[in-house]
Amino acid sequence: MRRLIPALILAAGALVLVVVLLAGPLSPSQEPEPTAAAPASTAAAPERVSTVLSSEFEDGTDGWEGLGTAEVTTREGDARSGASSLLVSGRTEAWNGALLDLQGVVTPGTEHTLSVWVRLAPGAAGTEPAAADAGGDETGDTGDRAVAAGGEADELQLTVRRDADGERVYDHLVHTPVGTDAWVELRTAYTLPEGSQHPELYVESTGTLADLLVDDVTVTKEAPPVQTDIPALRDALAADFPVGTAVGRQDLEGAPAELLTRHFSTITPENALKPTSLQPHEGEFTFEQADQVLDFAVEHGLAVHGHTLVWHRSTPDWFFRAADGRELGPSAEDQALLLARLEAHVRAVADHLQERYGDANPVRTWDVVNEAIDPEEDDGLRRNQWYAVLGPEYVAHAFRIAREAFGPDTVLYLNDYGTEGAAKRRAAADVVRRLLDEGVPVDGVGHQMHVNLGVPVSRIEDTIATFADLGVRQAVTELDVAIAESPDEALDHTPRERLDEQGLYYQDLLAAFRRHPGAVSSLSVWGLYDARSWLRAWPTERPYEAPLLFDGDLQAKPAYWGLVDPARLD
Ligand code: XIL
Repeated sequence: MRRLIPALILAAGALVLVVVLLAGPLSPSQEPEPTAAAPASTAAAPERVSTVLSSEFEDGTDGWEGLGTAEVTTREGDARSGASSLLVSGRTEAWNGALLDLQGVVTPGTEHTLSVWVRLAPGAAGTEPAAADAGGDETGDTGDRAVAAGGEADELQLTVRRDADGERVYDHLVHTPVGTDAWVELRTAYTLPEGSQHPELYVESTGTLADLLVDDVTVTKEAPPVQTDIPALRDALAADFPVGTAVGRQDLEGAPAELLTRHFSTITPENALKPTSLQPHEGEFTFEQADQVLDFAVEHGLAVHGHTLVWHRSTPDWFFRAADGRELGPSAEDQALLLARLEAHVRAVADHLQERYGDANPVRTWDVVNEAIDPEEDDGLRRNQWYAVLGPEYVAHAFRIAREAFGPDTVLYLNDYGTEGAAKRRAAADVVRRLLDEGVPVDGVGHQMHVNLGVPVSRIEDTIATFADLGVRQAVTELDVAIAESPDEALDHTPRERLDEQGLYYQDLLAAFRRHPGAVSSLSVWGLYDARSWLRAWPTERPYEAPLLFDGDLQAKPAYWGLVDPARLD
């Protein structure tokens, strides 16, 4: 198998190359078109599941809270995957742990699979075990016993607490021995009984009061069949632009993968190409997750939008610290160090892509700098750690380094959110104009376009017109339309009328893009289906938010029809 994969990649690469050569020159306003799919894999059919929740703790606590006296924070450096995990500290009783509200997340009466990776925090060994019983409840132990990967005889367990008939009930689901030396999985099937109220999932111990680490939480359920009798999005929008979505590893098999390859022609790794994922420690590159997504892209003939090289978030702290832990400042020496790190990072990514994929490298476009704009500042640039050390020049450096590393055919974007707002639009346009005047190789502007039903489409259209006048490419990179009318509106269900309104919104948006033919080079939504949306966990838990084109059962929503065939909207 190990030898098969490079062979497959080479074969797919050759196919892609032939197709690209046959396809002839690219039209200037369009992203490179996706290429023909390689033959389908013959691997055994994976489980047909959809993900209803995943927490990776790469960028916050993902809606988890401390239980009892416990507090939760993200912990960089000790992760099962990526760069960080959830640290649970301040535990004074065995049941004090990390808790997540499951209301609206799991469907009562439906079986779900829960998987939570845990370990004791390094340095936690030797903490006095408490005598108390876990949970302090009467339900007894009905859980499966998982196998420990080593360590001390402390146990962690997964519990759901809920109200039923006015009583608090504790379902102890699974427990496993755990130590400080290895991550172990708490995994179990669970069906929330009908009629339960306020279900909450938590990780607790059966004795130890040590600090805990939690990572890579997933809740999945069986997915209904993917609709095969509706048009493929990419066909419906073929005359407009390639259509893409953000993906994580949960989307690469089973029903989600079927949905993905049926409708989309480009993908953006949601987190796998961020600096935290690729270089969690200086000089230690971890390409596994990225390779997984990119191999999938090559196998299925999908183009990849690279996200992202330079950002103030999802960038490990070590980038901005000297060897002695001191924060870097604007001295010549520190500037040289940070620039060298930037260059080393970008070059390592480019070299890896070249080595693994050669001419079949599916990453044709990159968000080189993400979220750099701040309209409140005179020069329009956000004061972040890059700026603090390198000054405004860091943006130009990043683009020049990227051009050098990826070559002239890779399209380089300055990507930002909120560009539909007048002030941010103006600031972004000024920054781009300045960069172009200085000869900085910026090819385009990425509009994240995280909007909600309260944002007038006319604002978005003004933005598209503004940048079209500037003559730069534009990509819609992270589109989602929250059904909340403002970021503060808390929904306690997903109202049908909002979904209908959202269908009209997507319709209006497409109509606006079509009034500016050729201005938008690609359109990507930020997630394959609603339950996979980042908005479910950000800025707080929002289990009823539904910003995407397909619902939690992977079925087409009015939002999909708004893009594909508005006549189908009521
Ligand atoms: C988000 C991802 O969707 C989450 O999974 C992650 O925890 C945090 O980042 N703007 C961006 C994206 O540029 O990288 C963000 O993605 C969403 C906002």
